[in-house]
Amino acid sequence: MEVEENPFEEEVVANQWIQIVEEHPHDVRDNELYPLVECWIKNTLPTTFLDLGCGQGVFYNKFEKYFKTYIGIDSSTFLINRANNLYGERGAIFNVASVYDTNLGTASVDAVLSVNVLFHVQDLNRMAKEMFRILKPRGGFLISTVNPLCAEKWISFYSDLEKEDKKHVGKVSFPTLHLSKNTFFNHSLEEIFEYFEKNNLKIERIEDLGLHKGDNGRGLFLNIYGFKKGESN
Ligand SMILES: C[S@@+](CC[C@H](N)C(=O)[O-])C[C@H]1O[C@@H](n2cnc3c(N)ncnc32)[C@H](O)[C@@H]1O
Repeated sequence: MEVEENPFEEEVVANQWIQIVEEHPHDVRDNELYPLVECWIKNTLPTTFLDLGCGQGVFYNKFEKYFKTYIGIDSSTFLINRANNLYGERGAIFNVASVYDTNLGTASVDAVLSVNVLFHVQDLNRMAKEMFRILKPRGGFLISTVNPLCAEKWISFYSDLEKEDKKHVGKVSFPTLHLSKNTFFNHSLEEIFEYFEKNNLKIERIEDLGLHKGDNGRGLFLNIYGFKKGESN
């Protein structure tokens, strides 16, 4: 099955992302995202934890003390190599694979974290189906992504834009973010709910992040919390 391009699989873009995450402070990440993710991990206490679209494994570095088994999956060989060089010897597992086909066993993970990946993914149904397959019944997920209710604002950060239906490809510039190529799929909140619910992934709540940066009182980012419906539902 054909899969959309992922610019992070290119060395130049992967290196730009490595620099962005490792060399600059980020107020939304540092002050909002990391504390919320830590709180969720502490409450969930997963035995087998999957970081879906893990990049260079920054969440392993931050929250290593909570993990019994941490698995990071990403389709960028350059980012997985970086993750392995940084943290491979500390016990983390990093594999090159797709969010559509993780190569993990059925009902093998307790929790899935996926940060700033969903809007790079074209086929939400296929991603949700794979999440349902690999999660244990009642296993939790936290998807952090750009807020669909601020899509126009996000698209305004792109230049040299090529647009085809939901797909936007271009350079992206944001105060702490400069990538020479980036994709943005403009999925609506309704579509995200539709495909997750269709695949028996129950969304329990959503919350805005980056409140002071968004439009209409909404945050630029959105956290989506939920779990896989299980036998007990
Ligand atoms: C913005 S980065 C976020 C990385 C990491 N989650 C973080 O927050 O630091 C997006 C990541 O999603 C990965 N990605 C995009 N599409 C993917 C796909 N179809 N399968 C696996 N990884 C994908 C990219 O390679 C990249 O590492």
